[in-house]
Amino acid sequence: MHDQTLKTEEAYDQWAATYDHVDNPMIRVVEEALPPLTVGIGPLYTVLELGCGTGRNLAYMREHGATCVVGVDLSAGMLAKARKRLGGEVLLFQQDIRTTLPVEDGSVDLVLVSLVLEHIDDTAPVFEQVVRVLRPGGRVVVFELHPEHYDRGKRAHFETESGRRYMPAHRHSACDLEEAAAAAGLEALGSRSWAASAGETLLLTIELRRP
Ligand SMILES: C[S@@+](CC[C@H](N)C(=O)[O-])C[C@H]1O[C@@H](n2cnc3c(N)ncnc32)[C@H](O)[C@@H]1O
Repeated sequence: MHDQTLKTEEAYDQWAATYDHVDNPMIRVVEEALPPLTVGIGPLYTVLELGCGTGRNLAYMREHGATCVVGVDLSAGMLAKARKRLGGEVLLFQQDIRTTLPVEDGSVDLVLVSLVLEHIDDTAPVFEQVVRVLRPGGRVVVFELHPEHYDRGKRAHFETESGRRYMPAHRHSACDLEEAAAAAGLEALGSRSWAASAGETLLLTIELRRP
């Protein structure tokens, strides 16, 4: 048994097989936070998720009013799961979210960024793309590994028969993320900490808006 750190894409290609089946307190907290943070945002035609993974959040958004859902992710394995979950009526693209997104300027009502910025050191290129694709008044919700959780030594990982697999991880505070978003032209609407039932803060959420 030996623990290992893999490149992000390789890690998620391997994790894809079990990602949706293993109980993960972080995912449970995202599922708790998603409805209150997105209810009332409207009208919602197009929702884009950066680092959409297996498509859990896009499925929720489609069930709750989004007419067009678009996902971008680095991992072919995670996207294959998303395609299976969401069927044909979804646009999924395999690419790094720090590069030019395959979406027209000003065409998106809501961007979700869930549990992906922890794998990215410099978030500036991501927020630059978010501003470009959002319509004026369009919204962003970021879900991020809480910096207190990071400071307790916790990182995204999964178990294999030969040990734990980790991937690159970076600490982002609410201030760091709001500053990077503001530099790109986004307005901060608020941030919040979310705890699991055991009481430890796990998740940080940030709400942003394109003026
Ligand atoms: C923890 S999963 C989160 C998936 C989904 N957002 C959710 O909430 O269940 C992180 C996802 O981000 C993707 N990812 C990580 N870095 C990325 C990057 N630079 N560009 C695109 N996707 C990335 C991974 O492939 C993985 O699917």
